Amino acid sequence: STSEPLKVMISGAPASGKGTQCELIVTKYGLVHISTGDLLRQEVAAGTEIGNKAKEFMNAGGLVPDEIVTSMVAARLSLEDAKQNGWLLDGYPRSLTQAESLEKMQIRPDVYIVLDVPDEILIDRCVGRRLDPVTGKIYHQKFFPPETKEIKARLITRPDDTQEKVLSRLSIYKQNADAVSSSYSNITNKIDGSRHKEEVFKDIESLLTQLQQNKVKIVNSG
Ligand code: AP5
Repeated sequence: STSEPLKVMISGAPASGKGTQCELIVTKYGLVHISTGDLLRQEVAAGTEIGNKAKEFMNAGGLVPDEIVTSMVAARLSLEDAKQNGWLLDGYPRSLTQAESLEKMQIRPDVYIVLDVPDEILIDRCVGRRLDPVTGKIYHQKFFPPETKEIKARLITRPDDTQEKVLSRLSIYKQNADAVSSSYSNITNKIDGSRHKEEVFKDIESLLTQLQQNKVKIVNSG
C-alpha cells in the first residue's frame, strides 16, 4: 500500500535529547533529518558566509537571526528527498516569527513532539556531551561513553556547552516555548524525556507508527 510520507517536528529545551531521538527515528522511519543546529555548525566549520554570520550568535548561546535560519530550512525542505521520504525538523521553529514563516509557506507537520526534561538534568547532559566529528554521533561522558579508544580520542566539545551558555540557551528557550507551541497545540505530543533513551523512543515509536497507519488508511480510502 502507498502512504503519504511522515512530517515530524521535534522540540524541547537544550539537551532534552532531540538529536539523540532523531538518530533513532531516522534509522527506523528513514525520514530526512533537518537539524538547524547541525546545518549551522556545518556552515561554521566550512567557513561560509552564513557560518561566519551565525558563529557569534551561536557561541554566545543566543539565537541566530530568523532570516538566516529560515532560508536555510526552506531550501532544505524543498529538496526532493524530503518530499519523497518525509522529514524530521529538529530545532526549528524556535520563535513565533519562524513558526509564522512556516505557516506562510504552508508547511505543517503531522505531529509536534515536545521532549519534557527538568532543568537540573539538562545542565548535566550539556556539560558532558561529546560529538564525533567523523560520524556525527552524539555521546556523553557519563551516560553514553564512546565504544573505542580511537573514537574517544577524536571527540569534540561544543563551544556553547559551558554551564553559563547552557543557562542562557535555556532561558531563551523558555521565553519562546509557549509562543511557538501555541501554533501546534492541536497536534502536540508531550513526552517525558528524562527517562532512558530507549524508553523515550518507545513512546515516539508508537506515536509515529500509529500516525503512519492512519495515513495509509486515508490514502487508500480516498
Ligand atoms: P541546537 O543544536 O539545536 O541546540 P539545542 O536546541 O540547544 O539542542 P542541543 O543540540 O543542545 O540538544 P539536543 O536536544 O539535541 O540533545 P542531545 O540529543 O544532543 O542549536 C544550537 C544553536 O544553533 C542555538 O543555540 C542557536 O544559536 C542556533 N540555532 C539553531 N536553530 C536555530 C533556530 N531555529 N533559530 C535561531 N538559531 C538557531 O543530548 C544532549 C546530551 O544528553 C548528549 O550528550 C546525549 O548523549 C545525552 N542524552 C540524550 N538523551 C539522553 C537520555 N535519555 N538520558 C541520558 N542522556 C541523554
